[in-house]
Amino acid sequence: VPGPSSWDMARAFRSVRADPLTFLADVSQRHGDLVSFPVPGPPALLLNDPAAVRHVLQTASRDWGKQTVQYAALARLTGPGLLASAEPSWIEHRRLAAPAFHHERLEAVGVQVRAAADAAITTRLGALPSAYGEVVDVADLTHRIGLDAVGRALFSTDLSDHARQLLDATSDAADLVVRLGRSVVPTARLAPTRTNLRLRSTRRRLDVIASRIIAERRSGGRASDAGASGDDLLGLLLDSGLTDTEIRDELVTMVIAGHETVAAALAWTLMLLAEHQPAQDRVRAEVAGHAGPVSLLRHRETLPWTRAVVDEALRLFPPAWVVSRRSRSADVIGGRAVPAGTLAIISPWILHRRADIFPEPESFRPERFLSPGPPPVGYLPFGQGPRLCIGREFALGQMVVVLSRLLAQHRLTVGPRWSRPEALAQVAVHPAGGMPLVVTRIPPR
Ligand code: HEM
Repeated sequence: VPGPSSWDMARAFRSVRADPLTFLADVSQRHGDLVSFPVPGPPALLLNDPAAVRHVLQTASRDWGKQTVQYAALARLTGPGLLASAEPSWIEHRRLAAPAFHHERLEAVGVQVRAAADAAITTRLGALPSAYGEVVDVADLTHRIGLDAVGRALFSTDLSDHARQLLDATSDAADLVVRLGRSVVPTARLAPTRTNLRLRSTRRRLDVIASRIIAERRSGGRASDAGASGDDLLGLLLDSGLTDTEIRDELVTMVIAGHETVAAALAWTLMLLAEHQPAQDRVRAEVAGHAGPVSLLRHRETLPWTRAVVDEALRLFPPAWVVSRRSRSADVIGGRAVPAGTLAIISPWILHRRADIFPEPESFRPERFLSPGPPPVGYLPFGQGPRLCIGREFALGQMVVVLSRLLAQHRLTVGPRWSRPEALAQVAVHPAGGMPLVVTRIPPR
């Protein structure tokens, strides 16, 4: 299988660490649909062919598990929560959590998501003068919305008391997961290295907050303030017979997986709309013509353009830029026999840039997603197969709701010396240094 040599890898060492997205794009362009990395032991392959990806994530998913460095690193913070769990027993937890994401439930939590969006917009943008634009870090805004929406919709809890700590802890967590995932020499877990010490402290901080949320709910305190309901995620977990540690793991998983991704995706979407004023105007016009509150689930029929904008933004900037699997037994991918223990690396970032599937792949063209029907093969911002993102509908609905609330009253533009922030590949792909956009309030008619 073609791929970079050990010498190429040694030369690219720094750039792999600093900018893995460019590195992956580069090796894909040079070596094609199946790229082999020079590692000792079983092969490590980058899969760029949608058919091979489908095989690993869907058709043969039973034979490809999550025993990879990526998920082992995440598990050191989240424990074996839903996202990181490499065990077949993951399915029991998935079944337990699923009703919190069922359609009826999502229909009901629309009101909480709208409240989260409105609260952040009022707090962060309420004081803007109407006539002049002001530079605002919209990534900070979207992080707050993402976290608040998770708190309200999944735990019926107001997370604002914990917001600063949670935002700091999850950002540290993201950094640590990347460090651990990159480390060539696996460090002993108990060794007092800098990373291990920081990891323990971050985990402790997340533990304390999670324990507080659980205790508050058990005592019937704050939960009722925010309209608690037994069928939210926290209620389901508490009634499930899981241990406190298992509940903590799921809670921390949902906080990290549920807000980092949405926040990053929204920040990139707002950037694309600030760069493309006609697309933004079309969102605004569509929202103005929409009667009643936007539904988390049924927005596709009523706001097709806004939803297409979200789909296209997730194509260009898929927050989950890489997923990985390891084969449990020998298999054949892309016509090649591979042994047990083979590592499969799959990058939505690369797949979404295939010119044969998405002509002019670097252009922002929401109309690609306007026609009804399933998305094109090779489009997998939320993964594929049985481990597809459990929060997919919640995330998509939330993004549409936030766009509808924000753009109805505000215009976003880019500043005079605009250059896009660098895409930083952490747990999610974030804009490095935030997303400074010019926000102008639209005076009411
Ligand atoms: C799984 C992406 C939002 C919770 C995944 C996977 C992807 C993904 C690619 C599959 C990982 C794999 O196969 O290895 C995204 C993106 C989001 C988003 C791009 C937003 C734009 C959310 C939200 C939640 C969530 C809002 C929860 C509130 C999870 C969980 C899993 C998961 C728990 C693991 C599911 C399982 O293995 O059963 N996500 N996600 N995600 N996501 Fe999301």
